[in-house]
Amino acid sequence: MSPSGPIDRTVEYVKSALAGEGSGHDWWHVYRVWQTAKRIGEAERADLLIVELAALLHDIADWKAHQGDSTVGAEVARNWLLSLDLDHGLIEHVRQIVADISFKGAGVKQPELSLEGEVVQDADRLDAMGAMGIARAFAYGGARGRLIHDPTVKPMEHHTAESYLKSGGTTINHFHEKLLLLKDRMNTPTGSEIAERRHRFMEEYLRRFHEEWERG
Ligand code: ADP
Ligand code: NI
Repeated sequence: MSPSGPIDRTVEYVKSALAGEGSGHDWWHVYRVWQTAKRIGEAERADLLIVELAALLHDIADWKAHQGDSTVGAEVARNWLLSLDLDHGLIEHVRQIVADISFKGAGVKQPELSLEGEVVQDADRLDAMGAMGIARAFAYGGARGRLIHDPTVKPMEHHTAESYLKSGGTTINHFHEKLLLLKDRMNTPTGSEIAERRHRFMEEYLRRFHEEWERG
């Protein structure tokens, strides 16, 4: 890829657009999703230009910041790609992926994805798992003023996106409400393989957490 190819230009664009973003969708989240998506995309023989552009643009406008309107990010992504003069079919494909991938709670039905969409969604979900996922969960919970854990507050399944967003639960419960469910929601064999390892690490972490909670 030449230094001013569409990927490099998109990297610069996303970095500047996400500067100062503190909700867990900072540039380094995007960077990790991009790297993981490349790895999965190669193994799954997906179209890597689409995978990379969609990974880079997937959080360009956060759904929560726009009152649940998931089309905002997709439009921002589309306008950016139009400015790069890319093929219209490619632009529409990337726009669709950005519109479709964000998770809205355990009971909410997911749209059908292309292979490239599946790859980017797997990479995004993997960043919420394992060591990285644990760090992000506590960072997010802390930013929202949530408790680490309260044994009297039980996890709950959210059937609507609204209840998921409004829930005032603890961060440990977030593992049960979302993070431990992700392993069985992977789209690709390569994503599943990475998810297995990250899942086991979270289980081990929770086991130790509860052990220390009870017995020091
Ligand atoms: P995504 O990037 O998949 O759209 P979210 O915006 O829902 O994810 O969340 C960003 C990060 O913050 C993820 O790592 C997620 O696990 C974490 N997070 C989201 N909701 C909570 C919560 N209620 N408690 C703790 N962490 C959360
Ligand atoms: Ni993301």
